[in-house]
Amino acid sequence: MLGIFDSGFGGLSVAKALDEILPNLDYTYLGDNARAPYGDKDQEIIYQYTKQAVDYLFAQGISLIVLACNTASSEALRKLQQEYLPKFYPDKNILGVIRPVAEVASAMSKNKKIAVIGTKATILSEAYVRELKTQDPQLIIVQQACPLLVPLVEESQENSKATELILAHYLSQIASNDFDTLILGCTHYAFLQDKIDAFFQGQKKILDSAIIVASKLVDYLARHREYLDLARSQKKQKIFLTTGSTDKFDQAATKFLGRQINSQHINLK
Ligand code: DGL
Repeated sequence: MLGIFDSGFGGLSVAKALDEILPNLDYTYLGDNARAPYGDKDQEIIYQYTKQAVDYLFAQGISLIVLACNTASSEALRKLQQEYLPKFYPDKNILGVIRPVAEVASAMSKNKKIAVIGTKATILSEAYVRELKTQDPQLIIVQQACPLLVPLVEESQENSKATELILAHYLSQIASNDFDTLILGCTHYAFLQDKIDAFFQGQKKILDSAIIVASKLVDYLARHREYLDLARSQKKQKIFLTTGSTDKFDQAATKFLGRQINSQHINLK
């Protein structure tokens, strides 16, 4: 069984992509909706919250977790991989979203100018800048934090007039830069992808981290036979857990995934 973790609904975009690429995969999705957004919190808090989610999922017998959250990947992944796993879970692993997306973006950009939008924490961490520069030091990168977008998506406001105005305000800050590739550096933004594409009149390549992360996971499973059984299950078991309201989660997840979702409530500490 795979674990998919997000601060809230954003990782559902990764779950959706995985449902298409690996329909037989068993996974447990955990959304920490009660404490979202993470993007306006300090690194230590994001680390502690993510660690609690990781502990919870590992305690369910899960051996591989995808942090389907750019904020958790930026602020917690490295420390978890370098310090926490070797000490407490040497036979388990956690994957993030930043590196796979940076690899694709760097290969895809023709004019070598890339824009990144994300939460305040992701942008301030410069995690994308680091990973992109590792891929190609010549890249020119422009970043924009969009702190109000996650709360709007968590409140299912993606089609509201307010969201349209706020989105236009953020995107207009970077619109004068002639980047050809835009990274949606927050999984929640997949819910707004059509609107972002419309703002740029289809002129930018928009990288949806969910699809990239899902296809990179397929490669990872092929290279790591110890996790291969994850992809082979015939049970198609998909479990959805939320720290928030199950009614709210079920409504948003059912709408986004296009099938009935019945989540269970859990507490993290
Ligand atoms: N989906 C998370 C991300 O990719 C949202 C972060 C938040 O909770 O602020 O960054």
